[in-house]
Amino acid sequence: MTTPMKPFLSQSPEQTEKFAAEFSKKLKKGDVIALCGDLGSGKTTFVRGLFYGLHGDPAYFVTSPTFTLLHEYPTKKSPLYHFDLYRIETFEEFQRIDFEEYFGGSGRIGSAGTGVGDGICVVEWGDKIPELASEFDYKISFRFCDKNKREIVIV
Ligand SMILES: Nc1ncnc2c1ncn2[C@@H]1O[C@H](COP(=O)(O)OP(=O)(O)OP(=O)(O)O)[C@@H](O)[C@H]1O
Ligand SMILES: [Mg+2]
Repeated sequence: MTTPMKPFLSQSPEQTEKFAAEFSKKLKKGDVIALCGDLGSGKTTFVRGLFYGLHGDPAYFVTSPTFTLLHEYPTKKSPLYHFDLYRIETFEEFQRIDFEEYFGGSGRIGSAGTGVGDGICVVEWGDKIPELASEFDYKISFRFCDKNKREIVIV
C-alpha cells in the first residue's frame, strides 16, 4: 500500500456510488479491497457503486452480506465477491469458513486452481482481522461526518 489519495468528501449516497463506480475502473481481476469504517458509514453503498461501475445488473444488488458473510455477483468485467466480516472475530474463524481461496490469484493466502481467485473481492470490516492486512491491494476508510456527509480515503 502506498500514499493515500486526497480524501473525498461525499455529500450523498449517490455521490458515494458515483465515486465508487469511477474507482472501479482501476480494478483488475484478483484485486482485494478492504472497507473500514463504523456502522452506517457507507461501505455497502460504496460496494453498490462498485457493482454498477463494473456493469453489474442493478436489479441484482442486495444489501450487506452481514448474515451470509458473502455475496457473489457476476459483472461484465469479472465476478464481484462481497464479504462482510462484521460477525467474524478471529483469523481461525475466517479460515474455518474457507474464504481464503477467493483472495487473489497471485499466490498469497488465496489458493490457486480453485477458480474463484480471479474475481474482485471487496471486504467490509476487512481491518477486523489483522492477519489479512497483507492481502489487501487497497484499503478504503469511511468516516461519518454528519447525516449525509462521509469522508472517504483510499490507500
Ligand atoms: N454520503 C453518503 N455516503 C454513503 N451513505 C450515506 C451518505 N449519506 C447518507 N448515507 C446513508 O448512510 C447509510 C450508509 O449505510 P451502509 O449500509 O452503506 O453503511 P455500512 O458502512 O455498510 O454499514 P454496516 O457496517 O452496517 O454494514 C445509508 O442509509 C445511506 O443512505
Ligand atoms: Mg455494510
